[in-house]
Amino acid sequence: MNSTNQSLKPLTLKINKNSNLEIGGCDLIELAEKYGTPLYVLDEHTIRSICKDYKDAFKAYPKVNMMYASKALCTMAVTSIIASEGFGFDVVSAGEIYTVYKSGVNMSKVLFNGNNKSVDELSLAIKLGVGRISVDNFFELSLLNEIAKSQNKTVDILLRITPGIECHTHEYIQTGHLDSKFGFDLTQIDEAVELILNNYTNLKLHGLHAHIGSQIFETSIYGDEIEILVKEIARLNKKFDLQLDELNIGGGIGVKYTEDDCPPSVYDVAEIIINKLNECIEKYKIEAPVLFIEPGRSIISTSGVTLYTIGSSKQVPKGKKYIAVDGGMSDNIRPSMYQAEYVAELANKPQEELKEKVVVAGRFCESGDILIKNIEFPEIEEGDILCVYNTGAYNYSMASNYNRVEKPAMVLVNNSQSDIIINRETLDDLISHDEIPDRLHL
Ligand code: LLP
Repeated sequence: MNSTNQSLKPLTLKINKNSNLEIGGCDLIELAEKYGTPLYVLDEHTIRSICKDYKDAFKAYPKVNMMYASKALCTMAVTSIIASEGFGFDVVSAGEIYTVYKSGVNMSKVLFNGNNKSVDELSLAIKLGVGRISVDNFFELSLLNEIAKSQNKTVDILLRITPGIECHTHEYIQTGHLDSKFGFDLTQIDEAVELILNNYTNLKLHGLHAHIGSQIFETSIYGDEIEILVKEIARLNKKFDLQLDELNIGGGIGVKYTEDDCPPSVYDVAEIIINKLNECIEKYKIEAPVLFIEPGRSIISTSGVTLYTIGSSKQVPKGKKYIAVDGGMSDNIRPSMYQAEYVAELANKPQEELKEKVVVAGRFCESGDILIKNIEFPEIEEGDILCVYNTGAYNYSMASNYNRVEKPAMVLVNNSQSDIIINRETLDDLISHDEIPDRLHL
């Protein structure tokens, strides 16, 4: 069965009676006029649809905890929607902890990850009752135990391990291979467990955690990961007489950025995971563990598009034609950082015949600020509205103020209604953290 992450465009995308693109019943040109551009638009129906896919796909294994990896996009409206679908949250900073907390999420359904969590972040996590902390290294084990002791608490933890699996994705977003900054090497787990049992008495170990990478298309790799994790759990239970019963396999399921991308269906991935898990439960003779999964990109990417206004254009004599938009690398760093490819259409001319091949350039002072290297459009005029697809994940969350440009607004659309969920930054916002020492006042 197909799942929502296999769609390149939001599920409610249509050409409407004005011959414009619409999403969630909202005309994209009207949204651009009302809220300005660049504008992130999120389709609530698409978010809820992928959440339902995940829930249905994993029905056959009732002991599952879905944790949305909020690093993909963390705003209070988004966390509210995803919490209402029954998901918990994987968080990696005080900012993400605070966002989910302030949106009213039950903090016992939150899991704190990261390779260098600070004292303040760990203290906040314990104070707010975060359900699990995935401990990444020996330094953190000792630090966390100290903080837990000082607050007179016992903290529930997983150990993050590096399973030694290489997946075929961009080098920067591979994480499970052996020479990685994340997690304990398999050869270090016993020492970590001994320390927890003998020295760190304010920590309670529940299981193991791994994450093998992001934008993954291979499904069998999850089976390999599960085999390694279950084997380790069985071994540790036996060796240390423990009852570890939690297994977190991370996130990583890919999405369709271009027509050439073939991400797997969540249903197929879930089947592989569940079959392999059941097989390993028998093989290694363990009780069925609680399974955690942490999808980020696949939950939110497809629901999002970014609208830009086309401004200047330039034909290089005997060369390429460049069209420039009013955003670029500060609202979407992925093309320059990972050579990521995107598909786009003109929202006001979706049906017109394709006429010209162009490069879509951003407005930032850097030659590398190119959003799309090669795309065909109808005849382009200044003021056309460009709709770039699949920008829901890792766009706003990696946005910057490069060139002191304000971060765009974000609107949520559903049933012909649009609501601001992130206000556009203002010029005053940009200088709001600046200070001028007295001696420098002009
Ligand atoms: N769990 C852990 C421990 C992770 O490190 C990540 C992502 C996830 C879950 C969620 O992975 P997802 O389902 O979103 O693939 N900025 C990059 C992606 C970095 C992903 C980092 N970790 C990008 O724009 O492609």
